[in-house]
Amino acid sequence: MIAVIGATGNVGRPLVAGLLARGTHPRILTRDPGRAALAPGAEAVVGDLATPGCADEVLAGADAAFVVTAGPEAAAHDRAIAEAVARHAVRHVVKVTSVAALPPVHDSYGAAHAAAEDAYRATGARCTFLRPAAFMSNTLQWHWSLTDRSTVFQPFGDLPQAVVDPADVAEVALRVLDTPALGGRAYTLTGPEALTARERARCLADALGRPLTFVDAPPEQARRAMTDAGLPPAYVDGLLASQSDPDPARGGVPLPTVRELTGRAPRTFDAWLGAHLHLFA
Ligand SMILES: NC(=O)c1ccc[n+]([C@@H]2O[C@H](COP(=O)([O-])OP(=O)(O)OC[C@H]3O[C@@H](n4cnc5c(N)ncnc54)[C@H](OP(=O)(O)O)[C@@H]3O)[C@@H](O)[C@H]2O)c1
Repeated sequence: MIAVIGATGNVGRPLVAGLLARGTHPRILTRDPGRAALAPGAEAVVGDLATPGCADEVLAGADAAFVVTAGPEAAAHDRAIAEAVARHAVRHVVKVTSVAALPPVHDSYGAAHAAAEDAYRATGARCTFLRPAAFMSNTLQWHWSLTDRSTVFQPFGDLPQAVVDPADVAEVALRVLDTPALGGRAYTLTGPEALTARERARCLADALGRPLTFVDAPPEQARRAMTDAGLPPAYVDGLLASQSDPDPARGGVPLPTVRELTGRAPRTFDAWLGAHLHLFA
């Protein structure tokens, strides 16, 4: 049995759909009973990783686990999951981390992901780490300022990023879960082209068929927006440091990894926009 933690997220959702489509019935975790119902055929555990015993409930009896954690509490959640992986002798863990985890780490966001990788390695399970570049789905965060002001606010607007479709990360995870020989390694995953946020906003304007203004937001403004939304300042600082990292090896240039693992080219940003345009309406 495959356990899926983070089953309702950007990568988890297409991963669960892919498992179900080929007749594999995973056990999934979500905090929301309504979301559990969205994956008929999966065995749902409704719970919160902050609750002691939650990871045990999901992982008991699992041969393999796919794990996504997110947000400022992710490090604590990863520690709890790793302890449960060891207790239940889960054989293979496929864990989504980030390009920021590439050694040597440059910021606290990358350090948290690298510490999570270490925690899973220490379990004795075969560990496969998927280190994606920025997700194309982050574009959905522009929605709030598009409707009323037709404006995109984004810091570091001229930094090229080979953004990746989370569905491609899910497809790589499926391939690795299917093919034991591919496990036990770390894979850096990117999309097929390096685009700045300014260029992505232009693609979005073209797709929507209306002009958009791009504002290269000062990092301090982005920081305030995130801390005002309740995120801890230290977490936000790590996130912004990672987003501003100019190291081309951290998602700045397209890599062949998705094609090598899935046998087909990673999806383009225009293709992602085409499939998600209704969400910007
Ligand atoms: N966004 C990017 O550009 C990017 C790039 C590279 C790497 N990453 C990494 O990818 C990971 C996913 O990030 P994301 O922003 O795309 O998140 P996401 O996968 O869309 O959502 C988070 C998932 O975690 C679950 N979750 C959150 N808190 C939980 C809790 N307390 N207990 C149980 N489940 C919980 C949510 O489930 P429910 O809400 O259903 O409970 C949801 O399925 C993060 O580690 C991030 O650092 C992101």
